[in-house]
Amino acid sequence: MNARPKLRAAIVGGSGYGGGEVLRLLLDHPEVEVVQITSRQQAGNFVYSVHPNLRSRTKLQFTTPDQLQPCDVLFLCMPHGEASGQIERFASLGHRIIDLSADFRLRSPDVYRTWYEANHPSPAWLDRFVYGLPELRRSQLAGARLASGVGCNATAVNLALYPLARAGLIRSVVADLKVGSSEAGNAASISSHHPERSGSVRSFAPTGHRHQAEVGQELMEPYGQFELALSITSVELVRGVLCTAHVTPTQPLDDKSLWKLFREAYANEPFVRIVKDRSGIHRYPEPKILAGTNYCDVGFERDPHSNRIVVLAAIDNLMKGAAGSAVQCMNLMCGFEETLGLTFTGLHPI
Ligand SMILES: NC(=O)c1ccc[n+]([C@@H]2O[C@H](COP(=O)([O-])OP(=O)(O)OC[C@H]3O[C@@H](n4cnc5c(N)ncnc54)[C@H](OP(=O)(O)O)[C@@H]3O)[C@@H](O)[C@H]2O)c1
Repeated sequence: MNARPKLRAAIVGGSGYGGGEVLRLLLDHPEVEVVQITSRQQAGNFVYSVHPNLRSRTKLQFTTPDQLQPCDVLFLCMPHGEASGQIERFASLGHRIIDLSADFRLRSPDVYRTWYEANHPSPAWLDRFVYGLPELRRSQLAGARLASGVGCNATAVNLALYPLARAGLIRSVVADLKVGSSEAGNAASISSHHPERSGSVRSFAPTGHRHQAEVGQELMEPYGQFELALSITSVELVRGVLCTAHVTPTQPLDDKSLWKLFREAYANEPFVRIVKDRSGIHRYPEPKILAGTNYCDVGFERDPHSNRIVVLAAIDNLMKGAAGSAVQCMNLMCGFEETLGLTFTGLHPI
């Protein structure tokens, strides 16, 4: 009997950090073959020259985006604003599309205009895309043709707050996020220059971060409004996001109720783990041990001296916050086992 043919996947923007992670994951995926990967600047070069971890794992060479051929699954991994301007062309080439950028995450053109300070170039496409966070959108992603990526910071906040938000228990929340340098992609800038970046603890978005819109869409539209503030700080990490969310609940909650809420939300989630131990050094979520994995670790603590609940969530921004969630979406869209290609456990020590 013939084996089922593998899906043919292509990656646009494959020389970037997100595209490189999509390729790494798909090279280990039993149902998918990557047939094309693009980079304008690296066209003609072997992918390992840019992604040295993939040396001898693939003979692929970069092509230019205009050489793109039709494929079963197209991953778009370009900077913000590039996919939305060419979506008609990409949709004619990819039977299914997963776009890692922010171009199709927000359903409302008005909300998009507010946060991105521009009119969306293809507003009719916005509500055709399913927001690509499987924990919140699993049933819509199953069989879908188009999925957006997720904001990495939004993902840490959404998964931290989901158990409380869906129970209508949040009055207000201040989410403080510490983030690594790979969030900014592989293009160098003065802020990523080693003498400027190394050792810094730099507030870069104390207010006004665009990912706030994704939390509004995913948690407030379905479950009710609450006051939300995000502050983002760059720290000395390459990969990783740690969200520390200070929640004022609508009513006092004891430990038992909190455990119940978090267990009910995440007991059956393959990639969300509750981390809350009484002893040891790994009592709470920590991004370092998640590097390269698709896990989001979530923990919580009640403040005995106030009405505050602190919820913690850690991810690898390039994985659960980008390529890992994208491949998880692909598995759902194509009817594969949801965890295929995503079972790497990370390294310890690292
Ligand atoms: N980094 C993260 O943690 C993260 C997390 C979640 C989501 N995302 C989103 O994922 C997307 C990719 O992020 P990244 O960090 O991988 O960026 P990156 O490292 O800067 O890579 C961008 C890639 O896009 C290609 N590219 C740029 N302009 C293009 C164009 N006009 N047409 C075709 N290809 C183009 C670049 O290669 P050439 O210029 O050589 O073509 C490069 O391969 C972004 O939209 C980002 O917001 C990133």
